[in-house]
Amino acid sequence: MEYRQLVHLAAEAKKNAYNPYSGYSVGAALVSEDGTVFTGCNIENIAYPSGICAERVAFSKAISEGFRKFKAIAIIGSTDEMAYPCGMCRQFMAEFVGPEFVVICANKNGEYEQFKFSELLPNSFSAKF
Ligand code: THU
Repeated sequence: MEYRQLVHLAAEAKKNAYNPYSGYSVGAALVSEDGTVFTGCNIENIAYPSGICAERVAFSKAISEGFRKFKAIAIIGSTDEMAYPCGMCRQFMAEFVGPEFVVICANKNGEYEQFKFSELLPNSFSAKF
């Protein structure tokens, strides 16, 4: 899966964002080791902390379907700024990905930056204790 295509799938998922409180739309597209793609969008709630980010929706869909190994995720926002994953999403992802997992952060125009997971969450608290 080309990263450009993964960004496109994230942009499609972004159209379903439910964001009446922030007005900010996010889409995510997660590709598993075997090439299966899971998408997600942000889903807000009047009880603000009950809302969930696009990345965690995509991961939750994949995990709940039995997928455990992943190659990359594309995240796209609705402004000129790149959509970098929030701290909670970085920690959530750390449970399931390694340092070489690729994170593609895109802006509304589809321009993107590419990171290794270890760059976004160095020295992460791992599940191995
Ligand atoms: N949001 C995401 O979907 N992913 C992130 O990594 C950062 C924030 C959403 C949550 C909320 O619906 C909106 O963006 C504004 O914070």
